[in-house]
Amino acid sequence: MATQEMCRVVGNREIGAGLFELTMEAPVLCMQAQPGQFVHITCGEGNLLRRPISICNVQDGQMIVVFQVKGDGTAWLSKRREGDVLDVLGTLGHGFRMEELGDHPIFIGGGIGVPPMLMTMRAAKENGAKPEAILGFRNQNAVILEDAFRRLGETHVCTDDGSYGVHGFVTDVLKLHVQEATAICACGPKPMLRAIAEIAEAQGIPCQVSMEERMGCGIGACLVCACELKLKDGQEGVRYGHVCKDGPVFDSKEVVW
Ligand SMILES: Cc1cc2nc3c(=O)[nH]c(=O)nc-3n(C[C@H](O)[C@H](O)[C@H](O)COP(=O)(O)OP(=O)(O)OC[C@H]3O[C@@H](n4cnc5c(N)ncnc54)[C@H](O)[C@@H]3O)c2cc1C
Ligand code: FES
Repeated sequence: MATQEMCRVVGNREIGAGLFELTMEAPVLCMQAQPGQFVHITCGEGNLLRRPISICNVQDGQMIVVFQVKGDGTAWLSKRREGDVLDVLGTLGHGFRMEELGDHPIFIGGGIGVPPMLMTMRAAKENGAKPEAILGFRNQNAVILEDAFRRLGETHVCTDDGSYGVHGFVTDVLKLHVQEATAICACGPKPMLRAIAEIAEAQGIPCQVSMEERMGCGIGACLVCACELKLKDGQEGVRYGHVCKDGPVFDSKEVVW
């Protein structure tokens, strides 16, 4: 059951070009939050549809989300200040299955897919694993949360243009480290997820991916976020799932790429 909580903004700061880290008091939602889940935030009175944003981290009853300004909703959210109150629905969706990660999971984030991997990597470390992160960004100005990941374990940063860290894609780094991985968890653009899924499958390593689709209700009622999934047991054909309810995290082998 989703909970609606009125959350007081504690801080909202720009941490990269058009990228904001918003902290809010959300004691009830924080107790429910699982790595890889998202919240649905009302972004201004003119915007009837809530905006889905992943949970980046929770600490002492405060929830942190990181978002990129895209359109009206996220622009409105970027202007919220300390003391403003947000109408937040959560915590939504199925997150990463932590019990399947083993002792050396690799967490991969691409661009705005990086934030949800932070809470996930932290949870894996708290479960006793030795996690590793591979983070990919367009360029140096887009790099976010690097220090927070480094505090949790070995972290590789890549940029597409080579302006910071490794020059190349997350998959270039993954190929060098994949042999040691017990599982892979990833969030980011679909072409990146597909390439990661192929590498994982070739190596026989379990892989979970967090998918993104446009959303309406966020709770499985409107069917806007339908996605094609493979039938179970390798049967021919497809079935339909909903990213908000069945996901956003799926086994990479379930996804019709
Ligand atoms: C499960 C999930 C988790 C997400 N987590 C994050 C996150 O942590 N940080 C972040 O910056 N962004 C995240 N997004 C994308 C974010 O929801 C969109 O960027 C945001 O809704 C855009 O709203 P807007 O009003 O600024 O843009 P507009 O383009 O004006 O939005 C118009 C409508 O389209 C929908 N929409 C537009 N783009 C997307 C999109 N990519 N996904 C879903 N709906 C969209 C909006 O919700 C809105 O209803 C996530 C999306 C999903 C599905
Ligand atoms: S957003 Fe309405 S069913 Fe998923």
